[in-house]
Amino acid sequence: MTRHFLDLNDAGGDVLAAMINDAMDRKAARAGRPKGAPDDDAPLAGRVLAMIFEKNSTRTRVSFDMAMRQLGGSAIVMESGTTQLGRGESIADTARVLSRMADAIMIRTDDHAKIEEMARHATIPVINGLTDRSHPCQIVADLLTVVEQGKPLPGLEVAWLGDGNNVLHSILEAAGLMKFNVRVGTPAGYEPDPAFVAFARDNGAQVTLTNDPAAAADGADVVVTDTWVSMGQAHADQKIAAMMPFQVNGALMAQAKSDAIFLHCLPAHIGEEVTESVFESSQSVVFDEAENRIHGQKSVLLWCFGAI
Ligand code: CP
Ligand code: NVA
Repeated sequence: MTRHFLDLNDAGGDVLAAMINDAMDRKAARAGRPKGAPDDDAPLAGRVLAMIFEKNSTRTRVSFDMAMRQLGGSAIVMESGTTQLGRGESIADTARVLSRMADAIMIRTDDHAKIEEMARHATIPVINGLTDRSHPCQIVADLLTVVEQGKPLPGLEVAWLGDGNNVLHSILEAAGLMKFNVRVGTPAGYEPDPAFVAFARDNGAQVTLTNDPAAAADGADVVVTDTWVSMGQAHADQKIAAMMPFQVNGALMAQAKSDAIFLHCLPAHIGEEVTESVFESSQSVVFDEAENRIHGQKSVLLWCFGAI
């Protein structure tokens, strides 16, 4: 059975916990090495990851490439605009061709149905590098960052402020799998997809939906936000105005626990979803979070290849 990683629940809670532990072990074992040097066991030697980008990326592109190098393999980056996919070749044929040439596919795209279509036709693992619906690889890195900060996941209180978007959807899925609680503070009309809220609740997480930013942040262990305008969305003044009370600023962070940490998947828009003072504060661990994209995705790749 080919192991696709389209969403966190493809792996499940026990595997996610094992992935986080493996990522921490590998990260510690290679401390001080040149960033591109392989781990001692080079478990993916000879393996090639084909990456397709239908949207922009800095972190996902570099972290997957570095993850493959550190696991002993390599990666090929394709901008969809310069591929035949960009000229209308079908996803099914692209999946079948890449399955003959490479060992795994990572794709960043808009419509989630496209990666499901890719997975249906690929005989090698397909990994979700972000869709309009979810961003599971980001949340593996986020969970790793939280655990590294000494905060156990079960019972953790996570506050989300801003837009009910793809990143929040994967946080809600993780909440159900790892049994932490999420207070979602959004303006009315920008709530997350109810299916993700239901999944979290059905799996034992407490999810609070509120239009009051202070209530969302109150007593939180982790405060998270993201851009108010995701890739593919139009910049709308009306949306920005509605989001402004949900900006993560010093007053909002003061509602959280005194040792709360601040997360942001990046890129950040200083002065919109977060103030410079919070972004640059000692509570902000956003660059650990960015680096952890490498370490988390090594675990995702190892799971896809049956090595976790
Ligand atoms: N956080 C994240 O996915 O960043 P990129 O868009 O730069 O890949
Ligand atoms: N929600 C953002 C995340 C970027 C990494 C987007 O989809 O653009």
